[in-house]
Amino acid sequence: MAQVVVLGTGLPDRVLDEIGVRHTVRTLTRDQLDTAEGRAALAHAEGVVVIGQEPVTEEFLAAAPKLRVVSLRAVGYDRVDLAACRRRGVAVCHTPGVLDGAVADLTALLVVGIARRFGECLDSGRGSWATTGARPALGTDVAGKVLGILGMGRIGRRVARTCAAGFGMEIIYHTRSGPTAEDDAFGASWVTREELFARADFLTIHLPLTPETRHSVGERELAAMKPGAYLVNTARGDVVDERALVAALRSGRLAGAGLDVLSTEPPDPDNPLLHLPNVMVTPHVGSATEETRYAMAELAARNLLNVLAGEEPVARVV
Ligand code: DGY
Repeated sequence: MAQVVVLGTGLPDRVLDEIGVRHTVRTLTRDQLDTAEGRAALAHAEGVVVIGQEPVTEEFLAAAPKLRVVSLRAVGYDRVDLAACRRRGVAVCHTPGVLDGAVADLTALLVVGIARRFGECLDSGRGSWATTGARPALGTDVAGKVLGILGMGRIGRRVARTCAAGFGMEIIYHTRSGPTAEDDAFGASWVTREELFARADFLTIHLPLTPETRHSVGERELAAMKPGAYLVNTARGDVVDERALVAALRSGRLAGAGLDVLSTEPPDPDNPLLHLPNVMVTPHVGSATEETRYAMAELAARNLLNVLAGEEPVARVV
């Protein structure tokens, strides 16, 4: 029986029980981690399940010398120091695959939402429509428009299918690995990175955050986009240079943006992106459905239990 720390809340009881029948489980909030009790729990932990965005740093690992596995209830692992985990022989696992549909749905919602000025429509519906009769300016159709997908992994592909089949959009995409027959089979066309920015009416980002992708959508890329294009990001905020994005939105170069992720989360209330009328911001809820979060929790538990049992996890990062 090992000691397991669940960092953060939100693991369903059934999943906690699944871990609890084999191991001793301690759930800690971020604040509890800094208490004597939290430090003691971490000092004995052989497994940690991380819910949310808690960083796993060298310092964190030093406080958990018995650790064998970090199991993320997330697909993204940009907040984990992978090199330090490798050095210490700590396995890192994540939850790919089970959240593709939920994230793709939210992406499609943001594409249509910014096209139809949905944020402003909601504000008007609850306010100015009844008081002054004022309604937002006209939106734009998505049918027949070009959707550019930067990063054609599982989620990008799912977005492509939804927006092509459901909304009648033309799909172009860019991946460093080049075209795939599977994507081309449903009418999506691989283009160069330059062509992607130049041709997309809507550009949606589906890249992981790495040192190479950080701020890889910056001033130069935004200036290369069609005047009046829209940007959607449900991947990681830091892939985009937010200052450049704000400037492009303020100047009218971009017509709008739909963002489920920001550089700092939760954002500073003064972040201009929260106050521009042509921007829809959702609070990092791409995977936030009952079914998807349950599947993520189950996969995170399975990964953890496998490593603690000396078996291969279902989805290992390192
Ligand atoms: C992930 O799993 O990485 C998503 O961003 C949801 O948190």
